Amino acid sequence: MLHKEELLDIAINAARESLDYLQNKRSIEFCLVSSEINNELKSEIDFQLDALIKKCLIQTNIFILSEESAGDKSIDDMPDLKWVIDPLDGTVNYVRNIGPCGISLALCFGAKPLFGVIAEFPHGNIYWGGEGIGSFENGRSIHVSSIGLSEEGVACTGKPSRLRIDDAQMISFEKIFSKFSKVRMLGSASISLVKLARGDLELYSENEIMLWDVAAGIAITEGAGGIVKVERGIHPCSLNVLATNGRVSLN
Ligand code: IPD
Ligand code: CA
Repeated sequence: MLHKEELLDIAINAARESLDYLQNKRSIEFCLVSSEINNELKSEIDFQLDALIKKCLIQTNIFILSEESAGDKSIDDMPDLKWVIDPLDGTVNYVRNIGPCGISLALCFGAKPLFGVIAEFPHGNIYWGGEGIGSFENGRSIHVSSIGLSEEGVACTGKPSRLRIDDAQMISFEKIFSKFSKVRMLGSASISLVKLARGDLELYSENEIMLWDVAAGIAITEGAGGIVKVERGIHPCSLNVLATNGRVSLN
């Protein structure tokens, strides 16, 4: 079994290779395919990146849970130690050219990310980190912000395909987000978490978000000094996530 540092290097290389592929692919035509989940959109590039990342990780002999081949298996029915990957987090941003997206890889034990690596498109930054490792942007150490007053803070969320917005959701949404001066939806959970980790915003929360969307971002947020609360959602690999800079007051 390889050491954690060696596994991290393999993941960083896989993210870098995938980012190169994505950057060179931009001009080539790709077709859209729809997914089985209501209102979720997939493109050919999701599957091409999936194959590329798996080719890089296969040498580690560690189980790979990828969005593109996950099916509806529960987290509890897989080996504890696993790679959790989202080959392209923010497909709609990519396809419609409306914002950033992330190539997201994490090493997890159960549902707990040990470290994560995210390659950001189109900016080309590579982030990595985790508890006990610290967090880095292209090798430079990053930290969450020191803002403590929510009314001075920025919060970020999203609307996962599996989330049904009912009255209870609206109440919980109101309870958290009305405290903040600004609320944003960036269209990529991994990039939202990276922005929290580098101090650009103070809170990220999404319910019924899938483990592969957030695993790497959670590790990087924790490595940058943030606090992440995670509950299991109602779907096999879904989570309710509340991540902050650890200072902002939610009362
Ligand atoms: C989506 C993005 C989005 C979140 C959705 C995810 P995908 O990922 O992370 O921000 O709100 O829940 O599904 O489908 O582009 O990998
Ligand atoms: Ca995806």
